[in-house]
This record gives sequence, C-alpha cells and structure tokens, in this order.
Amino acid sequence: MLIKRPADIRSSEITDKKLYLNRREFIRAAGVTGVAAAAGAIGAEALVEAKGAAHGRKLANIKKSPLSVSNEKINSWEDITSYNNYYEFGTDKDGPEQYARDFKTQPWKVSIEGECAKKGVMDLEDVLKGETLEERVYRHRCVEAWSMVIPWAGFPLSNLIKRCEPTSKAKYIEFTTAYDQRQMIGVRVPVLNWPYKEGLRMDEAMHPLTILVAGLYDEVLPNQDGAPLRLAVPWKYGFKHIKSIVKVKFVEKQPLNTWQEQASNEYGFYANVNPSVDHPRWSQATERRIGEFFRRKTLLFNGYGDQVASLYAGMDLRKNY
Ligand code: MTE
Repeated sequence: MLIKRPADIRSSEITDKKLYLNRREFIRAAGVTGVAAAAGAIGAEALVEAKGAAHGRKLANIKKSPLSVSNEKINSWEDITSYNNYYEFGTDKDGPEQYARDFKTQPWKVSIEGECAKKGVMDLEDVLKGETLEERVYRHRCVEAWSMVIPWAGFPLSNLIKRCEPTSKAKYIEFTTAYDQRQMIGVRVPVLNWPYKEGLRMDEAMHPLTILVAGLYDEVLPNQDGAPLRLAVPWKYGFKHIKSIVKVKFVEKQPLNTWQEQASNEYGFYANVNPSVDHPRWSQATERRIGEFFRRKTLLFNGYGDQVASLYAGMDLRKNY
C-alpha cells in the first residue's frame, strides 16, 4: 500500500463543527419531500437531511455514542477529506478528493449473498431503514503509520447482519467495493486486483465497535471517504475499512482480502493494530497523528484492547498479523 510517503503533510488544528441547526430546521424522515427532496435527499430515516451543511449535505438526529473516544483532538474535516487512500481514484493521497468528486452514489444497491436466508439486492435506503446514525469518534490508524481521530456517523454492522439471517455455515463476511471503469480513473490501471475486497470473521463483524458508516461529522459521507457506505473497524489497520460497498457475502472460509492477495508477506487477514509486529519494510511502533508534530506510540489494538482482545485469546498475533 505504501507507494510513496509525501514529505509535506499539512498540519491543521482541530476544527469545530461550524454549523449547528436549530431543531426546528430538521426534516423528519416521515416527511422526506419538499426541501430534502429538492436537495437530493437520500430518503432513508438514517439519512434525514437538514439545511445548513458546511461542506456537503447535513444529517439530522445523530445520536452520540458512549463508544466514542474522548479527550482526543478530533481531526478537521479538511484533514479527513483531503488525505485519503482510495486507489480507485488514484494512488496519491490528494487524488480521491479531486477524482471522486463526481462519483455517483445515488441510486445505490448492495447485494446480499452467500450463507444467509435473506439474499437479494437491497437499495441503500433499505440498508439504512430503521437505523439511527450514531456519532462514533474513532481512532483511525493506517498501516502506513499515520493516524487521525474521526467522527464517523454510522450504525452497528451487526444490525444488518441480523436482518440477513446468516446460516450456521456463515463464519466470515466478505465485502466488495464498486468497480466502474467509467467513473473510477484508478481502476483503469492494474495497481490492485479490482474490485477491492475485504473480510471479517463473524465475531469481529458482530462486535459493537464495528460499524457501517454513512456520514462524517454531521454530514453525508463525502465520496473520497467511501460514500455512500464504508466500514469502520477501529482496532484494525485502515485497509480493512473498505469503501463504497456494493456486496456483502456470508462465507464459510476465510476470504482473501485485496492487500493480502497483493502481498501476503506484508498484509494479513487480521490486520489488528500491533506496535510489536512490524511491517517488513517499516516499524509499527509509532505513528504520526495528522496535525501533530511529534510521533506518538502506537497502542495495541489501537487502544481498543479492553473491548476486543478477548476475540483473539490463544491466537499467536505474530502469525495472525
Ligand atoms: N477501500 C477501497 N475500496 N479502496 C482503497 O484503496 N484504501 C484503504 C481503506 N479502504 C481503500 C479502501 C486504506 S489503505 C485506508 S488507510 C483507508 O481506506 C483510508 O480511509 P480514509 O481515506 O477515509 O482515511
């Protein structure tokens, strides 16, 4: 994944959310017509839009989550949306902001496949139906040893899984990203074996920290961050956080994820953040938090060990990297 490391990383200060709305301005889900429709509303309860977004389209009624990290500086909207990995839109960090701008995320369909009772193709609106988006402020640690703190707006992946009614054979889930040569300039070049794929073990996928993300701060997720739907698994390296998901497949065997397929000696299936297991070409002991000058120590499981270490009890984390 590391093709190059730009020398000049912009530092920036924490940006407060600039615009908060009067509650009366919120548009209730039941009445998603009028203003919301005119604004190109996505139309699901979870994505009720309100006026007044600072950057894109504003979401309403986002619930705070006790699973957020506290006392850490949240990165600014600008940091989170201008320094991205999304090879479908180029391999430079600033490429996705530029090239994903016009990527069409409406209408959007997600195919549910494999070992489950409720197979089929779902509209994004149905995936989000009945969900309340929660603000989850998560540490985000890329395997390239940079990190950010990001206020995602999402809902537990476990909610969707339960609705799909997996069979007893469903031991893992495989996710697939959209592939569109016309809209994604990056896939015209064979830098990866497209489409991008990722996987989780079922207990990882069901963990309350694992979310499907549809928003950033309190706005609709910008394209460069994986709109309209991406994964966030905060104790794992960033490459597990697959973007623009079009397929969710329940499988019996451990799936092969894109980066593991690309270089299995460098990228494993588990990809749990681990300061004592170096990448063959660089150390994972420290990280550069975007916006900070000094490097900081990387924490085992990215600091989420109390919640997730038990998932890996008895496993050799050096072998299962
Ligand atoms: N998903 C897709 N489809 N394509 C990608 O290239 N890059 C991954 C992950 N998800 C990637 C992807 C990597 S390496 C990282 S670090 C994170 O997205 C970056 O997420 P961010 O750009 O929102 O910070």
